[in-house]
Amino acid sequence: MAKRVTVKTIREMKLAGDKITSLTAYDSSFARVIDEQGIDVILIGDSLGMVMQGHDSTVPVTVDDIIYHSKSVAPQCKRALVMADLPFMSYTNPDQAITNAARLMQEGQAQIVKLEGGEAQLDTVRHMTRHGVPVCAHIGLTPQTVHKLGGYRVQGREDDAAKQMLSDALALQDAGADAVVVECVPVDLAKKLTEALEIPTIGIGAGRDCDGQVLVLQDMIGISSLAPKFSANYLSEGRNIPEAIAAFAKEVREGSFPTDQQCFY
Ligand code: KIV
Repeated sequence: MAKRVTVKTIREMKLAGDKITSLTAYDSSFARVIDEQGIDVILIGDSLGMVMQGHDSTVPVTVDDIIYHSKSVAPQCKRALVMADLPFMSYTNPDQAITNAARLMQEGQAQIVKLEGGEAQLDTVRHMTRHGVPVCAHIGLTPQTVHKLGGYRVQGREDDAAKQMLSDALALQDAGADAVVVECVPVDLAKKLTEALEIPTIGIGAGRDCDGQVLVLQDMIGISSLAPKFSANYLSEGRNIPEAIAAFAKEVREGSFPTDQQCFY
């Protein structure tokens, strides 16, 4: 049986220059196929609010929703690291965050939790990691704050915003974060973040220089109502679903995904 991927594994992959592959999953059938195809990290993302529940944002998703889906996904992950999202308003202070993270890990069988935000989350990340909760931060475009951001837009294009993102990322690492998802930022900034951090960056719409790539499953098999520019339809060219997942993994590992057309500058 393949050796389990852990937070230590993904840090070693960064050091070795081996790209980390990640996809979302919300049910047991897809989770099994994704795990069998050797994807390193399987994310029970709050994107389920859009692709499973049909909402136009991730805001309505609850901790119970994530646990429901995580309970289906986690037992199928024999190798992949199981990451689950803390949804909107489930981590407004360190105590609430750790209570909900414990639920994701104990009831949902997650092995690492992900939360959105920069410096506002430092006390929360410190509190959780001190108590043994592995944490993945999520910076750049943070979809839970879409109503505050005024839409799904590329983040960090202005100098001040880029500087702030870099300082947030370093502070999250100092607070104990084990990895960071970087969403929708220009390639140069994602490269800077990746070079500055010891923890791995997992990019989505953040260029090829990140330590890994994550996509929403429904986007990469071409069934989302609005496919984002940074995704690709791997079910094209006559592939079946396992072949599509394998093709994504291969392209990420050899550095051919994302292409220039899928990047922001
Ligand atoms: O919820 C999700 O699917 C995510 C990815 C976009 C990284 O957070």
